[in-house]
Amino acid sequence: MAKIKVQIENSPYDVIIGKHSFSKLTAEIKKRNIPKNLFCVVDEKVYKLYRKEILQLKTKNRETTIFRLPASEQSKDLTSIQKIYSRLLKEKYGRDTTIIAIGGGVIGDVAGFAAATYMRGVQLIQVPTTLLAAVDSSIGGKTGVNFFDTKNIIGAFYQPNFVLVDTAFFNTLPKEEILSGLGEIIKYAFLTNEKLFAYLNKNINEVFALNPYVIRKLVSESIMFKGNVVAEDEKESGLRKILNLGHTFGHGIEVEQDYKLKHGAAVIVGIASSVFLSRRIGLITEELFQKYISILIQTKDWIKIESANLNKIYKIMQRDKKNRLGEIRLVLIKDVGKLLLDVTAGKREILFALENGIKLFR
Ligand SMILES: NC(=O)c1ccc[n+]([C@@H]2O[C@H](COP(=O)([O-])OP(=O)(O)OC[C@H]3O[C@@H](n4cnc5c(N)ncnc54)[C@H](O)[C@@H]3O)[C@@H](O)[C@H]2O)c1
Repeated sequence: MAKIKVQIENSPYDVIIGKHSFSKLTAEIKKRNIPKNLFCVVDEKVYKLYRKEILQLKTKNRETTIFRLPASEQSKDLTSIQKIYSRLLKEKYGRDTTIIAIGGGVIGDVAGFAAATYMRGVQLIQVPTTLLAAVDSSIGGKTGVNFFDTKNIIGAFYQPNFVLVDTAFFNTLPKEEILSGLGEIIKYAFLTNEKLFAYLNKNINEVFALNPYVIRKLVSESIMFKGNVVAEDEKESGLRKILNLGHTFGHGIEVEQDYKLKHGAAVIVGIASSVFLSRRIGLITEELFQKYISILIQTKDWIKIESANLNKIYKIMQRDKKNRLGEIRLVLIKDVGKLLLDVTAGKREILFALENGIKLFR
């Protein structure tokens, strides 16, 4: 098993990565001085698939509750949080509780927020079971829920005690969920260095084939990169903004498409739009433009956008939390590893970028 340290000031933590590492969860808890009263919030689908492994967390001499929750954006709300609090109280869980989130980003965000707020904060372990949760949502301490129509608007920064990534969970993921994680991995390739970019460019098909060596390498590199960024900027006041590459466009597209496009797929289209914008405003040469588009286009067979209302996407982008003074703020690429933050652009340029980014996936 590999171990990566996320060096957050005052609360550093380990990310343990390995195939079948889930069987070591109890031993990892034991090794650390954390409470053994476990409250596991488990994705219902994951529970059905891995019931035997999950039930091993229950032993005679330890208090363990398995709380099942369906993973959908609809269940990422305060009602689910209330249900978790009620069960915790009913079963008399005190401050000496460790909440374990076992599932994708939905479960991680909900269970994380419950852990951040129950009795003003109890221990938290993240066990991400989707590729997206492993490389993104389980790292960095953002937790929260949706409120009416607004995504992730109620929440807290709350770092886990540790994260355990078992890459064997990915074997049961549908292709669209692998693509969703791949979207974030492609983003990291743009943000890190030429070596990772070239490696991913050569191995995208191996990600879909779940080649264990490729998956382990890309998951580790992504976690290491995100871990370093969040360690430097825990509360997103500066550097962490680079993680939003493709996300302002992507979120607009995701909402306009009524979530028929998964998050990571929308991020890929969003990065494509950013690349078109970078070229339009003269940030990149034609040669770099071709290089960037060629990595994105490798996912073309898995992403289909039949039609899109560009003005609607633009309006959604205008509501983005990261905007200032009514201006859309974007992260744009200058080169691999060189990003520009808080770039503003006019409506004409943005519509141009969207039109061309989306056209790639028609
Ligand atoms: N906190 C953060 O920093 C952060 C970052 C990115 C995304 N997010 C949030 O994460 C959520 C998306 O996460 P996600 O893509 O993991 O979605 P998800 O949690 O909805 O999981 C996707 C689907 O995969 C299923 N699933 C999970 N593990 C499985 C497995 N091993 N085998 C088979 N099926 C499995 C789930 O039941 C679900 O149907 C969004 O709500 C988003 O807002 C949070």
